[in-house]
Amino acid sequence: MNLKVKIGELTLKNPVMPASGTFGFGLEFKDIFDLKNLGALVVKTITKNPRLGNRPPRVYEVSCGMINSIGLANPGWDYFCEKILPQIKDLNDILILNIAGESVEEFQYLAREAQRFDEIKALELNVSCPNVSKGGIAFGTDLEALKQIVSSVRKIYSKTLIVKLTPNVTDITVYAKAAENAGADALTLINTFTGMVIDVKSKKPVLGNKHGGVSGPAIRPMAVKMVYDCFKAVSIPIIGVGGIDSKEAALEFFLAGATAIQVGSQNFVEPGFMPRLIRELEEYLQEENIESIAKLTGLAHRGE
Ligand code: DOR
Repeated sequence: MNLKVKIGELTLKNPVMPASGTFGFGLEFKDIFDLKNLGALVVKTITKNPRLGNRPPRVYEVSCGMINSIGLANPGWDYFCEKILPQIKDLNDILILNIAGESVEEFQYLAREAQRFDEIKALELNVSCPNVSKGGIAFGTDLEALKQIVSSVRKIYSKTLIVKLTPNVTDITVYAKAAENAGADALTLINTFTGMVIDVKSKKPVLGNKHGGVSGPAIRPMAVKMVYDCFKAVSIPIIGVGGIDSKEAALEFFLAGATAIQVGSQNFVEPGFMPRLIRELEEYLQEENIESIAKLTGLAHRGE
C-alpha cells in the first residue's frame, strides 16, 4: 500500500503534516513521536522581524473547536535561522517554512533568504491570518494583492511554492485560480474563519483581541466544500485542512480533492494523533484494497 504523494517537486512519504502554528517548530513533539514519520514538517509562521502577537487571552476552546487570536507571535527570521533551524533541520526530510509579511518586500525578503537554505524544501505563503492589522487576511481577500505577492515571490523562489488561502471570501475558487496563475505549485485550504466568543458572565469577548480565527470540527464541512470546489477550478495539488480529527474526516478531504492534509486543532487535543492517522490510513487502504492514497483524490467527483 502506497501512501506517497506529490506536492510540487516534492514526494512526501505520506500525506499527513501539521498545520502551521499548531505544532510550534516540532520541538515539543519530538519526544512524543518520531517526526520523521510525518509526510512533512510545517513550522509556525515566521516574519522578517520578531512579533509579540496580540494581547491575551489568545486562545479559547469552544465545544466544536477553538478560536485563536495569536497574531503571528514569532521570534523573527534571524533568530529562526540561527537558533531554531539547526535544531529542527533533521527532524523530517521535508521542512516547509510558512512565512508572512506586512508588504510584498517582506515576503520577497523571506523568500530570498529561504532560497539559500537547502534544508528548507518548500515555502507556504500565509496570506490568510485573520489576526493581524497589516497584511494577513487583508492580502488574501484582495485579488490584486494576492497576485502580486505570489508572482513576486515566484520570481525569487524556485522551489515548491504553496499558498495558504483564507475562507473569509465569497468565492474561494477565484482566489485559488489567481494563486495558480500567479505561480503557486500547490494550495493549502483553508486557514481559519473569523469569529467571536462572548463570555456571558463578564459580558465581554473572551479574547483580548475580541475576534479571532475559528478552527476545529466546526469548520470541517465548509473546508471540505472549498476543497471540493477548488479541485474543479485548479489543476495544482490541494492540501486540505479544517477540523481533521479522525481517519474518516481525513478521507472526506481526499475524496473532495485533497492530495495531502494538515492537522491543526487536533494536535492540541491528542499530540500523538498524526502518527495514529498515518497508521489508520494505511490500514484503510489495505482493508479496501486500494493500492495508493493518491487514487482517492477527487473520487467524490465521479459521475459529474
Ligand atoms: O488562525 C490563525 N492564527 N491563522 C494564522 O494564519 C495565524 C494564527 C495567528 O498567529 O494568529
